[in-house]
Amino acid sequence: MQKPISVRDALSSTAAQESASVQGWVRTRRDAKAFSFLEVNDGSCLKNLQVIAPAGLFNYPEVQHLITGASVAVRGKLVASQGQGQKWELVADEVRVVGPSDATYPLQKKGHTAEFLREIAHLRPRSNLFGAIFRTRSRLAYAVHRFFQERGFVYVHAPIITGSDCEGAGELFRVTTLDPSAPPKRPDGAVDFAKDFFARPTYLTVSGQLEAEAFACALSKVYTFGPTFRAEDSNTSRHASEFWMIEPEMAFCDLAGNMDLAEEFVKALIREARSTCAEDLELFGKFVDKDLISRLDFVLERPFQRVSYTEAVKLLVESGKTFEYPVAYGTNLQSEHERFLTESVFKCPVTVYNYPKEIKPFYMRLNDDDRTVTAMDVLVPGIGEIVGGSQREERLDVLEASMRRHKLDPKDYGWYLDLRRFGTVPHAGFGLGFERMLMFVTGVSNIRDVIPFARTPGNAAF
Ligand code: 4AD
Ligand code: MG
Repeated sequence: MQKPISVRDALSSTAAQESASVQGWVRTRRDAKAFSFLEVNDGSCLKNLQVIAPAGLFNYPEVQHLITGASVAVRGKLVASQGQGQKWELVADEVRVVGPSDATYPLQKKGHTAEFLREIAHLRPRSNLFGAIFRTRSRLAYAVHRFFQERGFVYVHAPIITGSDCEGAGELFRVTTLDPSAPPKRPDGAVDFAKDFFARPTYLTVSGQLEAEAFACALSKVYTFGPTFRAEDSNTSRHASEFWMIEPEMAFCDLAGNMDLAEEFVKALIREARSTCAEDLELFGKFVDKDLISRLDFVLERPFQRVSYTEAVKLLVESGKTFEYPVAYGTNLQSEHERFLTESVFKCPVTVYNYPKEIKPFYMRLNDDDRTVTAMDVLVPGIGEIVGGSQREERLDVLEASMRRHKLDPKDYGWYLDLRRFGTVPHAGFGLGFERMLMFVTGVSNIRDVIPFARTPGNAAF
């Protein structure tokens, strides 16, 4: 049998082909007098390949029953198309029905709502929009690795099961093999996790940062790229319970170097999408967000603004705008504040740095003012926070004091403190939420729609 080519390769052919094979799923069928038109899509690109199935085919009656969703393998001549909208079409010598479909196939040509499509997450990648989203996701994942590998970073696989709560927010999914209806108890009545699988309490990781720090203090420049989990009960369009994070970590690096890398990285991913996902981006620009392309280009052209937390709060207060959550020095910036800063005050991405120590995790480096830590968040229009990072506290005594302030026992973090005992160095890193980046690049406004099978509070279907 002839080796099939993808629809993408067929459509980008440089010459007619006497014999070509293509396989995929039927999007539509239209019958004329002496033949049927089939639009076949295999997900390799946005466009369909038009197949002309002549009435002379031995199984023509079967072809005339093909409906949306059926799978076919077609062999024929790739010829210049007479019709509009495509350069090549395939005149079939053979149309083999691989798997029929039936009238209950839920994806029809008419537009469906995002909510309905989420209920058929196993079929939605067969739609134009979701095909485009997940091709873009794949391209950007590849670009993440290229970005760091080209700059000499080493890819580290941080563990998914961990004993530590990196962010200290208590949003942990417990990992246990204990019987929930009859767990072993200690004399004081508490569950005895010493009898659990790992002989200690364990969780799904919220971040690979602490482990990445260990590797940065050996390999100098490292990054992680993997799934992270948060049992955060916030049902928003920007929070998922399982999401992918990219976390670079650099030894001998300070806050300024960290901000520079974050900006360079975000821009590189946008540039990558602009150049390698042009066709899919055009679709997003047409059907998802009319301003998408101009916004992406605008972001590429300008330096991100940088503003300290103190200045940011001042700008918010002085704006006179009424927010749902009032803003004052010492409070966490809410997403409405973040979006106001980036969308209305600066009208471009902005990096906010030096937050009050009370509202940030234990590992961030204390500034000389003794009030703020070297945190940095990158905020982008339409989303708010897309990157969170910091320079890390490299001074052993200051780190121990910070742990105690955060009600953590330094004894539980012996290995982490060792990094400060043996050849400590200034180091810094950040986490980019991969899905938030995808939302930014595609214009898709709900995180559930850039994840193949989203996990959110109350939902782990599929
Ligand atoms: O700001 P976060 O919590 O920072 C960290 O986890 C650090 N340990 C990173 C580091 O310094 N290595 O999360 C980093 C980013 C956020 O800016 C956001 O883009 C994304 O991860 N993120 C989420 N994305 C989707 N759903 C959620 N529930 C998210 N929580 C954070
Ligand atoms: Mg954050």
